[in-house]
Amino acid sequence: MSAELKAEQEFSKVIRDRHSVRKYDPSWTISDAEIKEILEEAILAPSSSNLQPWRFIVITDPDVKAQLLPIAHNQAQITDSSATIAVLGDLEAYRNAETIYQYAEAAGYVTAEIGAAMAKRSYDGYSGMPAERLKDIALIDGGLISMQLMLAAKARGYDTVPMGGFVHDSFKELFGITERYVPVMLIALGKAAVEGRPTARLPLEAVTHWNAFQA
Ligand SMILES: Cc1cc2nc3c(=O)[nH]c(=O)nc-3n(C[C@H](O)[C@H](O)[C@H](O)COP(=O)(O)O)c2cc1C
Repeated sequence: MSAELKAEQEFSKVIRDRHSVRKYDPSWTISDAEIKEILEEAILAPSSSNLQPWRFIVITDPDVKAQLLPIAHNQAQITDSSATIAVLGDLEAYRNAETIYQYAEAAGYVTAEIGAAMAKRSYDGYSGMPAERLKDIALIDGGLISMQLMLAAKARGYDTVPMGGFVHDSFKELFGITERYVPVMLIALGKAAVEGRPTARLPLEAVTHWNAFQA
């Protein structure tokens, strides 16, 4: 088997083996270094104009987890997993366009002139958008990063569960999050104590249309 085919099969297995896990081994810790490695892979996700609106709060401190628990409807995975990662979306991500293109220039991906022009185009284009559109973008990009994070974790033998079940206002209050940021989801990360159950999917034919759409 070629190395490429083996890698493809391993990736397919990661996708197929991922299930939401809600019971974690509370004694299992994941080092900060390994959490950073997972996040480093997650941030390779695509984003609208590469503005990377995602921000993370990595919650490992038992006291902070305990405060988050009731806000997340007492879902035990908040406290039992090794870390809960809150994914936020920056509603003013265009403010980072210049910095992003400076990194691109430093890496030799663009010239200073092209980088500056592209940064200006992003800033001008996005800063004039309605708030609702900026929120859509932050949530879409936040979803992409969340999925990538969960697969990166699974590839390392860890489990996750995404959580939308939390009180956004209380969450924002707990962490002093300003109106600039929108909570996307919480993701518990850890070692399963009980494997996640397989879940059913609608058949592909029920969700896929070719070349036209019939509701
Ligand atoms: C945006 C989002 C929010 C979710 N919120 C919760 C949640 O609050 N609590 C929970 O236990 N599972 C939550 N889930 C997990 C789903 O129930 C789960 O992904 C779905 O049943 C499919 O199962 P699977 O992840 O094992 O494939 C959420 C999933 C998504 C994508």
